[in-house]
Amino acid sequence: MESIVLEPFDSEYLGLLKTRVVMSAMSRSFAGTHHTCTADIANYYERRAIDGVALIITEGIVIHTSGDGYNNVPHLQTKEQAESWENTVSKVQATGTKIFAQLWHCGRISHPDYTGGVSIVSSSNKKAEGINRQNGKPFGVPRTIELSEIPEILKMYVDAAGNAFKAGFDGVEIHMGHGYLIDQFFDSRINNRNDAYGGSVENRCRIAIELISVLIDKYGPGKVMIRISPSRYMNGLYEWPELEEMLNYFIPKISEIGLRLLDVSCAAADYYQTSGKIIRMIRKQWDHFLIGGASLSLSQADSEIIEGLLEMVTWGRYILANPDFVTRLKTGKELRVLTDEIRSILY
Ligand SMILES: Cc1cc2nc3c(=O)[nH]c(=O)nc-3n(C[C@H](O)[C@H](O)[C@H](O)COP(=O)(O)O)c2cc1C
Repeated sequence: MESIVLEPFDSEYLGLLKTRVVMSAMSRSFAGTHHTCTADIANYYERRAIDGVALIITEGIVIHTSGDGYNNVPHLQTKEQAESWENTVSKVQATGTKIFAQLWHCGRISHPDYTGGVSIVSSSNKKAEGINRQNGKPFGVPRTIELSEIPEILKMYVDAAGNAFKAGFDGVEIHMGHGYLIDQFFDSRINNRNDAYGGSVENRCRIAIELISVLIDKYGPGKVMIRISPSRYMNGLYEWPELEEMLNYFIPKISEIGLRLLDVSCAAADYYQTSGKIIRMIRKQWDHFLIGGASLSLSQADSEIIEGLLEMVTWGRYILANPDFVTRLKTGKELRVLTDEIRSILY
């Protein structure tokens, strides 16, 4: 089948890629002892790389114990945790596929059960609504990050990125979406600070801008991607307040400070209503590498690329449920749909 998605793609920052297929970040809660990566995880990613996924973004990897919020997810805080990824990275790279580590701090989407008993933190002390499905308890009440603590938070990301590069990753993706820590600064419904990190659009974007700047200065523009989700579903459509104003400030600004790799997510929602819409807004101000998707058909994915909206297309659940996803796209074989049974095993 003729398809631009299935052809090789020469990317300015990532080099020659075997297809335009990206595996998006998916937490699997299968980490080994001490939140390490295991041989089973290595095989899981390697199978998808062998089949033709060109770029793998790992599951969210927690940058520091104080930023965890989930059962049994990997971390990138210690030497042991960093080294545990070397096998996965080298297996994936041996197939010609690139692999980025997704760096994650949950902020208020957590509970002290996950942070070694220390207070969970956020841009404010506003608690997330609802029950944490991980431990069946309400989310914890966060402690507001003090102004003086911001450098420490940035350092956690920088150190985790350093650990990712020591393990050989091609790059890092900073998770700035889905209501986690950096998104808790973007969002004026959560962020009620009255210092330099709250209030105006510029102030709410400040922590993200500072983080991107420090990472790019240290590791270079080809090594740093961010994931944002200005429009997603969460009990209905959930968008950044002041959406246009935010995008009009943030997108030119990240370009100006040298960011070149951007991933727009809608989480598990209809792409055309959420991130597809945002990509159309962003593209006017962003002519660098841009990825997005969500369960698109091959022809939908092709047309997003042909229209010049995306460089590569991300898939999550289909790649999880179909280790031979790219082969199935090539042959037209029906895709398996993700079920709880498939979700509960790593293969
Ligand atoms: C089991 C599962 C875990 C996920 N974990 C993450 C994650 O750790 N980080 C992230 O940015 N997105 C995560 N997502 C969202 C996916 O990356 C993707 O954006 C979403 O599933 C929509 O794409 P799809 O329709 O192709 O699955 C997860 C999705 C699923 C289904």
